[in-house]
Amino acid sequence: MRILLHRVDGQTEPWVKDFARHLPEAEIVLWRAGEPHPPCDYAVVWAPPEAMLSDLAEVKAIFLTGAGVDAILKFDSALPQNVPIVRLGDAGMGVQMAEYVTHSVLRYFRRFDEYETQTRAGQWTPLPPHNREDFAVGVLGLGMLGTRVLQSLKEFGFPLRAWSRSEKSMEGVQCFHGADGLDTFLRGTRVAVCLLPLTKETSNIFNRTNMCKLPEGSYLINVARGAHVAEPDLMALVKSGHIAAATLDVFRNEPLPVQHPFWQEPRITITPHIAALTLRRESVQQIAGKIRQLERGEPVADIVNRHQGY
Ligand code: NAP
Ligand code: GLV
Repeated sequence: MRILLHRVDGQTEPWVKDFARHLPEAEIVLWRAGEPHPPCDYAVVWAPPEAMLSDLAEVKAIFLTGAGVDAILKFDSALPQNVPIVRLGDAGMGVQMAEYVTHSVLRYFRRFDEYETQTRAGQWTPLPPHNREDFAVGVLGLGMLGTRVLQSLKEFGFPLRAWSRSEKSMEGVQCFHGADGLDTFLRGTRVAVCLLPLTKETSNIFNRTNMCKLPEGSYLINVARGAHVAEPDLMALVKSGHIAAATLDVFRNEPLPVQHPFWQEPRITITPHIAALTLRRESVQQIAGKIRQLERGEPVADIVNRHQGY
């Protein structure tokens, strides 16, 4: 069995070693632009270069080393149509996302962001606490990560809400769905957490109109994709105070350019796309397990629905 591997960061050696441990029967073939390679059974990629697409047509399945699928589905009809694309299941991402979002919500709820400013100013001023019942946390996307985040937030007693495409239910969470449910969802959400896949329907969802539906003094945590947020609209609403603060892990252009105005805005917290990192060992173990399932003729989880776009 041969696996065609491509890494955007060029760091192939540790992946090869981990595959040798978890799938010793497989030969790992490194994809290099313009270089011929023997026929391969599977491909393991994240954001494949366009020149790789024709090689992906040969394999039995394409495994992604991430949860989001926009970096491959953007090729649309140029992608081989009959080869299943398999995204990562949890593989250690859920707990990281729960840590990141819980930290961000608590930072705003307990006003630690304001105490950080006070610390730098040498100031000792206890601030009045926020009311828990006024701090509804609304998660957009009730998938693998949104569900895990909400499970962790339950511990703290905030009113919890979720918005998904199809109708869903989760104990202790007020659920909304579809375009019709978005308005009511946003109007009752104080902290909006974006955990949607990037699709035609969700692109720019945090535009001025939608962000204005959030109550005055709301917070935005975007841990999905940069293109979910209309960046100039967010900047204007932070300046006006309608959005009290935002924590952003993802941006339209990554790395965020040095001249981007977000860097100068103290109410915007920036992290470099690290909310839930791909953990190599867990990912290789999971992909190896799925390859074994496919070889036995069994179904595998986490196959991307190309029609839905996630
Ligand atoms: P997922 O399991 O595919 O769940 C997606 C959720 O979004 C589902 O609940 C789905 O609704 C909902 N949704 C999709 N389109 C919608 C629409 N038009 N309207 C309303 N709801 C919609 O995705 P996931 O694994 O939780 O990951 C979510 C995203 O997180 C990824 O796509 C990726 O972009 C991002 N991510 C970021 C990082 C990071 O480090 N920052 C790491 C990993 C992933 P249904 O339930 O009805 O299908
Ligand atoms: C990271 O952003 C991922 O989608 O896995």
